[in-house]
Amino acid sequence: MENQTFILHSIAVDPLTGSISTPIYQTSTFVQEAPGVHKGYDYARSNNPTRATLENLIAKIENGSHGFAFGSGLAAIDAVIKLLKYGDEIIAVEDIYGGAYRLLTHIYEKFGITVQYVDSTDATNIENAISSKTKLIWIETPTNPTLKITDIEAVAKIAKNKQILFCVDNTFASPASQLPLELGADLVVHSATKYLGGHSDLIAGLVITKIPELAEKIKFIQNASGAILSPFDSWLVIRGIETLTLRVKQHSENAQKIAEFLTQCPQIKNVYYPGLPSHPNHAIASAQQKYPGGIISFDLINDSKETATEIVTKTHYFKLAESLGGVKSLICLPCEMTHKSIPREKRYQSGVSDSLIRISVGLEDVEDLITDLKHALETALNH
Ligand SMILES: Cc1ncc(COP(=O)(O)O)c(C=O)c1O
Repeated sequence: MENQTFILHSIAVDPLTGSISTPIYQTSTFVQEAPGVHKGYDYARSNNPTRATLENLIAKIENGSHGFAFGSGLAAIDAVIKLLKYGDEIIAVEDIYGGAYRLLTHIYEKFGITVQYVDSTDATNIENAISSKTKLIWIETPTNPTLKITDIEAVAKIAKNKQILFCVDNTFASPASQLPLELGADLVVHSATKYLGGHSDLIAGLVITKIPELAEKIKFIQNASGAILSPFDSWLVIRGIETLTLRVKQHSENAQKIAEFLTQCPQIKNVYYPGLPSHPNHAIASAQQKYPGGIISFDLINDSKETATEIVTKTHYFKLAESLGGVKSLICLPCEMTHKSIPREKRYQSGVSDSLIRISVGLEDVEDLITDLKHALETALNH
């Protein structure tokens, strides 16, 4: 079965009514025949049929066995970190998403969970950082915003060998492009706010695994901590997933052309895009991802935050906003927006300079997007 057919037909028809669109079960509780005798649902924090449809769908398309839906990507990350205990150590990708860094540093450090950040593009850096306390390896690939790629299979081998949990944040690639569980990861998380939702109209997070004991623990945490996704937002994510592969393919086609255009601009220093043969991890990206994705970052030779600010405020179709992965193009300045919570020195270490601009390439006609960027670059750079 082709991917798109598989996705569309992994969404169950409502068994009660035959409704082809998943019904939104907007309820807090379910009537029981006798105490504890019910149709599989008792209270909507524990389980809800609309959320269950999304959870089963994401489990299928990530090639897992269990999926769990949360109120945000960060709530999904939080649920995975709660698998750990006082004294445990995490090895995490160096240029981790700023919000995950904030969660680990400002919430979990005070509970005695420590983190070592390493450049995971070389898996031996992870191996060398492992201690007897290491209980979790955490990577994003591609990373946000410098699009570094980690070899998932190589890290999975190290993690298995040392019996350490291995989680991949698959937000940037999406399951249309990359399947970390197939490559040996134990857990996958998503900010479903991005490509899975796909329309910049919701905040949601997902966790997927195919290990029953892990599924049981995440289910327990989801219910005990209570950061669940609402029925309506579950429905929106289901609807987004219906067109996921089509969107990711087109986002990638547009982004490839834009990345090639940006490499021609003499005032741009680096263009970070895994689809460019000049990208240092191009080979592994091509091997483990079906599509290079819709996100591009670039920085300026003069590394001026002021000039970068002018560029991001001069585009017309690329709207200045946080987030990514929607049908409409977005542009942002990570040092002042998504990555503001990361200290400047640490930010520079992972390549996020003051002039680094991240764009989320949407589904507009690519010629219009190139004209828009060209105009903003010329206006900001040539005066
Ligand atoms: C890679 C990655 N993971 C997780 C998150 C957090 O997701 P959310 O904003 O849905 O909480 C983000 C948000 O930008 C992200 O980019």
